Amino acid sequence: MPKVLVSDAIDQVGVDILSQVAQVSYEPELSPAQLLEKIPEYDGLMIRSGTKVTAEVIQAAGRLRIIGRAGVGVDNVDIQAATRKGILVVNSPEGNTIAAAEHAIALMMALSRHISEANVSLKAGKWKRSQFIGVEVYKKTIGIVGLGRIGSHVARVARALGMQIVAYDPYISAERAQQLGARLVDLEQLFHEADYITLHVPRTPETTHLINERTLGLMKPSVRIINCARGGLIDEQAIYSALKEGRIAGAALDVFENEPLGESDLRSLGREVILTPHLGASTEEAQTNVAIDVAEQIRDVLLGLPARSA
Ligand code: NAD
Ligand code: MLT
Repeated sequence: MPKVLVSDAIDQVGVDILSQVAQVSYEPELSPAQLLEKIPEYDGLMIRSGTKVTAEVIQAAGRLRIIGRAGVGVDNVDIQAATRKGILVVNSPEGNTIAAAEHAIALMMALSRHISEANVSLKAGKWKRSQFIGVEVYKKTIGIVGLGRIGSHVARVARALGMQIVAYDPYISAERAQQLGARLVDLEQLFHEADYITLHVPRTPETTHLINERTLGLMKPSVRIINCARGGLIDEQAIYSALKEGRIAGAALDVFENEPLGESDLRSLGREVILTPHLGASTEEAQTNVAIDVAEQIRDVLLGLPARSA
């Protein structure tokens, strides 16, 4: 029987599917050194974002045929090294779309109404209503960077909330944007116009630090920025300074340049920043979807059937 290693926490339904065709080791707490030591035994590897499948891991993987990423981003896998060795990399492009979009909207609302700080304050025994005056999103402009699966769902919800939508995505048509109620603009115009900016692009050389000292200077002082996409899209030191100096009104960040987030100036800020530990895909529904999606692809490949690659 083939062997599959599951090295991040995934839904049990995924383990059940894999167990139909393979001996499954469920070891979500493996250290990088332990992964390196164990990987030669396995035909399949299933991960989320925690496991880093480096060239070294792939080099050590003598019999590995498939790596399944239970989620969208495959940036924690050295795809080139895997491809050179003929190892298939698969993902779940749609399983967590709604979860990530809803998390972005939740962060936008939480920022606007100081929900996180107000909750901490009341639990500490205070009743400070006048300290938590918020702003409405109705009739405000949201700038969506990346109008793919998640960005499109954010647009649908934003429209229902009565927001104006501008979007920047060089790879989609104006007609597609129009169908979503969004007006396509260039990035600088989006930065100028938006009251909220939400990022839904992959991290690439083009998108790395797309929010930086210079582009922060193009924004309204009242802007609130949400990043539920990838760490590294925002220059964290630059956004920290802008928040600290009151040059922008707020930011809600779910993803970070280095994860888990360690020592960071961002932690020292107050209500102007909300930080969540990469929770965009963390709903019961999304975790079931991605586990089924990816486990089925691994199962099929181990049975000798074709699978789509990431
Ligand atoms: P997608 O591929 O459907 O959409 C990405 C969009 O970005 C595409 O429309 C593409 O044309 C656009 N794009 C690419 N380069 C661009 C550029 N330079 N400028 C503007 N637009 C550009 O992907 P998706 O499923 O919507 O996911 C978006 C991001 O969210 C990914 O980085 C994904 O890894 C991340 N994500 C995070 C979480 C989380 O837990 N926080 C959960 C799911 C997905
Ligand atoms: C993704 O790219 O799907 C996200 O990082 C979600 C995750 O797996 O945590």
